[in-house]
Amino acid sequence: TMDTATWASEVRRLARERDAVILAHNYQRPEIQDVADHTGDSLGLSRLAATVEAGTIVFCGVHFMAETAKILAPEKTVLIPDANAGCSLADTITAQDVREWRDQHPGAVVVAYVNTTAAVKAETDICCTSSNAADVVRSIPEDREILFLPDQFLGAHVRRVTGRDNIHVWMGECHVHAGIDGQELRERVAAEPEAELYVHPECGCSTSALYLVGAGTVPEERVNVLSTGGMLSAAERSTADKVLVATETGMLHQLRSANPATEFEAVNPRAECHYMKMITAEKLLASLRDGTTEITVDTGTAASARRSVERMVEIGT
Ligand code: 13P
Ligand code: SF4
Repeated sequence: TMDTATWASEVRRLARERDAVILAHNYQRPEIQDVADHTGDSLGLSRLAATVEAGTIVFCGVHFMAETAKILAPEKTVLIPDANAGCSLADTITAQDVREWRDQHPGAVVVAYVNTTAAVKAETDICCTSSNAADVVRSIPEDREILFLPDQFLGAHVRRVTGRDNIHVWMGECHVHAGIDGQELRERVAAEPEAELYVHPECGCSTSALYLVGAGTVPEERVNVLSTGGMLSAAERSTADKVLVATETGMLHQLRSANPATEFEAVNPRAECHYMKMITAEKLLASLRDGTTEITVDTGTAASARRSVERMVEIGT
């Protein structure tokens, strides 16, 4: 086995040889984040995929993210180091489910979180990510009914911050974030009353975080419901001694390097996404060496899905 420095230089060499750019999500293993050209959240990585010059994108993340890259950059080769890196949230809804739901609500606008397959995106009107979901919903005329899918906690959050009650929410969830629950958050806050909170809106505890504010337990300015990219920007500016972080634990690596003076701690240290961690050092190397596994999306599906993703990108949030 190679040491990390040898592995990293081999990865960089193969990437040059292949004219490949390596994109990594904030939940990836630390060594993958460190070797990547760009690390970011779903929205940031989608934007990059659409604009990078390289002929090949190696996507270190889960399958729907690599598919989104392919949808936005159809002329590029998109590789994922392990094609089995799925997503429990994306698995909660199929294209057929969307068609049936839409039939029950004629005239409604279908908003899809990017954590969905290309086939599902193709059935929707506009996509959103955790960082722009509220802005996407605000861009829709107030009298239009909205079907929001697939995450119930993000949907409830959007309903709360936009104050709209004509939003129907699909009852899907991500097993990792749903597992960071209100009970756990309340216990951690009781033990660390001075800490700031960063809460991903997919968390089971995102509603509890706002109840803690409502009950006066934690002052409002200390509670931040953010995407992973939003957490990183907040961390860069933070003057807090301690921040409790409610999201997948891979995020701590970026937060700690962004601000070594602040202590970042997981609300639930067991909140690990095994799909994200399927992208290992060996598999990244093999992917660059062998050109595996190439992501394909059929042209018709890609064209419909692209309209939905591009409407989101055009809102420019
Ligand atoms: P963001 O990076 O967009 O916040 O997404 C979080 C997530 O769960 C992706 O799987
Ligand atoms: Fe999917 Fe949850 Fe893993 Fe994100 S953390 S990829 S939403 S299973």
